[in-house]
Amino acid sequence: MITLRDVTKRYGEVTAVDGVSFEVPSGEVCVLIGPSGCGKTTTLRMINRLIEPTSGSIEIDGQDVMSVRPEELRRHIGYVIQSVGLFPHLTVAENVATVPKLLGWERRRYEPKVRELLGIVGLPPAEYADKYPRQLSGGQAQRVGVARALVADPPLLLMDEPFGAVDPLTRERLQAEFVRIQRELKKTVIFVTHDVDEAIKLADRIALMRSGNLEQYDTPETLLDHPASKFVHDFMGSDRALKRLGRARVANVMRTVESTTGGARSVVAEACGGSRFVYLTDERGVLEGWVDCKVLDAGTPPEEAGTTVDWHEAAVHPETTLKDALSRMLGFGFRNVAVVDADGRLVGEVSLAAIEGTMADADTHIANLEEGEVLGAIPEESPAERDELT
Ligand SMILES: Nc1ncnc2c1ncn2[C@@H]1O[C@H](COP(=O)(O)OP(=O)(O)OP(=O)(O)O)[C@@H](O)[C@H]1O
Ligand SMILES: [Mg+2]
Repeated sequence: MITLRDVTKRYGEVTAVDGVSFEVPSGEVCVLIGPSGCGKTTTLRMINRLIEPTSGSIEIDGQDVMSVRPEELRRHIGYVIQSVGLFPHLTVAENVATVPKLLGWERRRYEPKVRELLGIVGLPPAEYADKYPRQLSGGQAQRVGVARALVADPPLLLMDEPFGAVDPLTRERLQAEFVRIQRELKKTVIFVTHDVDEAIKLADRIALMRSGNLEQYDTPETLLDHPASKFVHDFMGSDRALKRLGRARVANVMRTVESTTGGARSVVAEACGGSRFVYLTDERGVLEGWVDCKVLDAGTPPEEAGTTVDWHEAAVHPETTLKDALSRMLGFGFRNVAVVDADGRLVGEVSLAAIEGTMADADTHIANLEEGEVLGAIPEESPAERDELT
């Protein structure tokens, strides 16, 4: 558990962080968010003593960080930054091995770990271990940064806009990988971003900062539904029903589907039964496309009634957020989208109606909340009034 108590950092006249207190339970992801210059990076860097606080205390599992030598402290805290900071003259594997080497690990101890982690972050070691940073894309370099931070197995991970410098699609993939890795490794993570959607997707709790102060610290749902101030409300955005979809996963609303292997007319027709569409898979169950049963009924051969697709593009995964699934449907203009596992095997489908259903629930929920409480009337400041609202 990380505990910040009344932490302040001043630079002469400037108060970068102003009496911030919060706690991050072990194994949780805390996302620090807020406008540029609000003190996120300063807060993060005080935890591993890259910056010394002016006053207040920071404890990791009950131990005051000021009582630990900075180098010692940093060996147990993974740190990932936006610009990655890989050593250009070292290979990918050597970059990832930096901390274990510093710790004096023997090669046979760290080498398997380095390879394992490269695999985990989606960079097969056979292909990437011996590459140099200049041979990597921005997104690949970021993955190396994440692998490097994880390799010595630190219980605590500090990440400062780690996915900031990549295109939206790569970012979405890195976020999905982060969710998957975190589910497995259960690190305590403090993650800085100024992207609200990223915060909603990744956070167990969000710490929203403004001008050095902590405005609100709670779950994403609470920040969306019970903003403590107009600032929080405005920062989180007005499309709350849509934002809430960033919290729900496809796994929660998907249903099973009819599918068939091989395209013989009789086989497909039987699979069609009462359904409108039947998915086509190969022998291993990997999604290949689908058949429109109405078109098939009209006597068109299965090859022509069918649509062939690449599952990488046309399907989502059980852990995809409903928001991303919805944007995929809108992008393709379909009311349903297939759900596949990591290897492309069909596991179900999610429909627009199912997503609408969850939005209707959220809308009712929000409508109930707002009864007699106009959002514009949320007080700008006053902690006393805040308490009444929450
Ligand atoms: N070394 C320094 N000397 C003086 N002022 C500083 C110093 N470092 C940071 N500040 C100021 O402290 C405030 C907080 O900076 P910080 O880097 O923590 O912001 P941030 O929330 O991480 O912003 P961004 O989203 O732009 O990265 C800013 O007003 C910044 O100008
Ligand atoms: Mg910053």
